[in-house]
Amino acid sequence: MRLLVTGGCGFIGTNFVYMMLEKHPDMVIVNLDKLTYAGNRFNLLPLEERLGGSRYHFVHGDIGNAELAAHLISAYKIDAVVNFAAESHVDRSIADCSPFVRTNVLGAQTLLDVARRLGVPKFVHVSTDEVYGTLGPTGKFTEDTPLAPNSPYSASKASADMICRAFYETYGYNVCITRCSNNYGPYQFPEKLIPLMIRNIIGQQPLPVYGDGLNVRDWLHVKDHSAAVETVLRRGAPGGVYNIGGNNEWRNIDIVNLVCDLLDNRLGRPAGTSRGLVTFVKDRPGHDRRYAIDATRMRNELGWEPSCTFEQGIGETIDWYLANQEWVGEVTSGAYRDYYRKMYGGR
Ligand code: NAD
Ligand code: DAU
Repeated sequence: MRLLVTGGCGFIGTNFVYMMLEKHPDMVIVNLDKLTYAGNRFNLLPLEERLGGSRYHFVHGDIGNAELAAHLISAYKIDAVVNFAAESHVDRSIADCSPFVRTNVLGAQTLLDVARRLGVPKFVHVSTDEVYGTLGPTGKFTEDTPLAPNSPYSASKASADMICRAFYETYGYNVCITRCSNNYGPYQFPEKLIPLMIRNIIGQQPLPVYGDGLNVRDWLHVKDHSAAVETVLRRGAPGGVYNIGGNNEWRNIDIVNLVCDLLDNRLGRPAGTSRGLVTFVKDRPGHDRRYAIDATRMRNELGWEPSCTFEQGIGETIDWYLANQEWVGEVTSGAYRDYYRKMYGGR
């Protein structure tokens, strides 16, 4: 199979590309990434060194560039597109919505349009559970839950979902939408809750918990999300929408305390030390109270289910961040970008 993966230098894309190329010796991946602050080409450097020019091709570019997308699809005889590329952080969307509309709506529409025109047999659009809005204390999102996005980020993702739906209904285009809950694991940019807390605990900095800390998220390891995306790629029905989740709900404050305790133990600090860093701060505007995913369709129709327990996954994730503090320093300090410019010129 010859895949065009977009946003492959981000958190989930990186994990997906590694998984696919390791699992499938005959797979070819073209990774189209704009390298925003969240994209790091060097995440995949080992693949560039081992498989560059044969089974792995990195292309620096924007999914909103129709000519480039058309060229890649034709030149590499692409069988399927998996679209991860996005602006992904809710807080940034509150500060400025424009890049979210440009990439998540117009970029996705452009890519979809080119893929359909050129007859790419399958398109998987990676969306999010945030398009459903928020839940009260009970119940779960199903694929039939009406879309009710509350943040500029989720509104931009919901818009793209609607365009995907329209492409199936209008043109019969073979597009699938996945809607996953919160991911955790290696290579997540430290602006997101878990890696931010890990970084601040290591550096003994305050741990900013929004509002009362009682908002609930449903956490899934990124390798289980990656496997689910592959499942939809291979077996998803045309026009199909698939919820993906770990059945693993946590209140934010509980997850922060858990990460504190696991790190205190690993760093040889007295029990309870890092919990003292927790600082309740002003709430995120429009903060969704609770997400929970009903992934019955993925299990019953496509045979997917999560394989990684949270206990195992969170421990491995903390160990990865402890072993990769240089990576964290580079992506957060801008040193990576300076290095990149020096290595590759003005891109
Ligand atoms: P990320 O922010 O870590 O990575 C996004 C990647 O997209 C980066 O490599 C960036 O350079 C690239 N990109 C951004 N704009 C681009 C453009 N115009 N053209 C080409 N590349 C561009 O995001 P992530 O957490 O890996 O999320 C990937 C996808 O999964 C997103 O679509 C997101 O909405 C969705 N998702 C994320 C989660 C989560 O918990 N992180 C959960 C469900 C769904
Ligand atoms: O549900 C899927 C979504 O999960 C994805 O679509 C998004 O791309 C991804 O960023 C994530 O969105 P969240 O807003 O849920 O993730 P975030 O890590 O930003 O926040 C998780 C929870 O923690 C949320 O309730 C806000 C809270 N939080 C977050 C940060 C960064 C804090 O309390 N303090 C913080 O500093």
